[in-house]
Amino acid sequence: MLRFKKNDLYVEQVRLSDIAKKYGTSAYIYSKNKIVNNFENYKKALGAKDGFICFACKTNSNGTILKLLSKLGAGADTTSGGEIYRCLSAGFSSSKIVYAGVGKTTEEIEYALKSKIFMFNVESFEELDAIDKIASKIKVKAKISFRINPYVNSSTHSYLATGKKGAKFGIPYENAVEAYSVAKRKKNIVIVGIHSHIGSQILDIGSFRLVAQKIKKIVDAVEKNGIKLEYINCGGGLGISYEEGQEAPSPKQLMVELFRIFDKDKKFIFEPGRSIIGNAGYLLTKVIYRKISGGKNFLIVDAGMNDLIRPTLYEAHHEIVPVKKTNAKKVKTDVVGPICESGDFMGKDRMLPLINQGEYLLVKCVGAYGAAMSSEYNSRPLIPEILVDGCTIKLIRKRACNRDLLANEI
Ligand code: LLP
Repeated sequence: MLRFKKNDLYVEQVRLSDIAKKYGTSAYIYSKNKIVNNFENYKKALGAKDGFICFACKTNSNGTILKLLSKLGAGADTTSGGEIYRCLSAGFSSSKIVYAGVGKTTEEIEYALKSKIFMFNVESFEELDAIDKIASKIKVKAKISFRINPYVNSSTHSYLATGKKGAKFGIPYENAVEAYSVAKRKKNIVIVGIHSHIGSQILDIGSFRLVAQKIKKIVDAVEKNGIKLEYINCGGGLGISYEEGQEAPSPKQLMVELFRIFDKDKKFIFEPGRSIIGNAGYLLTKVIYRKISGGKNFLIVDAGMNDLIRPTLYEAHHEIVPVKKTNAKKVKTDVVGPICESGDFMGKDRMLPLINQGEYLLVKCVGAYGAAMSSEYNSRPLIPEILVDGCTIKLIRKRACNRDLLANEI
């Protein structure tokens, strides 16, 4: 979806420098067809198996993107009342919304119940009590799975690993069977399945396989106690290729592994986020100034850590490329933002051509956890989001202005 035509870089049929001229920089740009392809890959991999693909909307909660995915048949994986609200507004059927999170509040639980979401992924015994009580108060039944912490160390950044011993997430593995017995005795709880999510940007299928094997043991033990678990929710977490040489497994490879572990009659839920939207998003930014300091070469761009925090927070690598072909000599460069922190960078020690002031760079693979994690730090208004479909450009979130910074102040 990204390629050069003559000397200019295009997303689908649109020249990036044209977007920059029309909408300014910095800006998030998404390829609609890439999103569709990524989602269709999941759908194809699920094939005739009963279940659904719930887009983890924390990765990107822009309404137009949510609407696109809901139209393609996606369900939604949510983590707050706000996300449920966004998903319902974008047209997701409430019967396809699942809701995880260690700290669901009374208000959020009540809202989710009233919205008739498909199920809660319950993460503690106290949360189970709370859901039961609130369901009783408003006279509804709550469908639940338990999110089980399987104690599997996945090879990813420590902030992104959620399924290891000592993590705050889920019901501890040794309490899993007991949790289902407790839930069975609750009047307003209906048990529908089991859930596990071990983290994000996981590239080795072996970790997923290990989790599935451990979850299968719980399923067997619970079913022996006369409790049927209809849905197996495998969470999200499938990694993507952020740099050359990094191999990411496909949804098909993942599902083939998992399906053979569980009984044929099981229904499946997947909660992918990054692998649907990650490589469909780009951050377009302009070089404001150049300088050499302490023997280092700097390109100072108009995108900061408030727009894209992943490099700062996880030392995440995002490829950076100029949007115009050039023969300029390549030099080792730090691409840094305008924020008053040394951690404000898009990339360090990159071999980049010595481009001019006013030229544009593209930061790749930022569709997931890019705009969604952005902030107004340093009082920088939020930047626009643009969806490209073939040769059409659609502004899907306008650039905020200085007045917006004060909008909710009293
Ligand atoms: N399901 C649950 C319960 C989750 O907590 C997450 C992500 C997902 C699904 C989706 O995982 P994915 O398919 O996107 O890997 N901000 C970090 C990533 C945090 C992941 C949080 N949970 C980053 O920028 O890398």
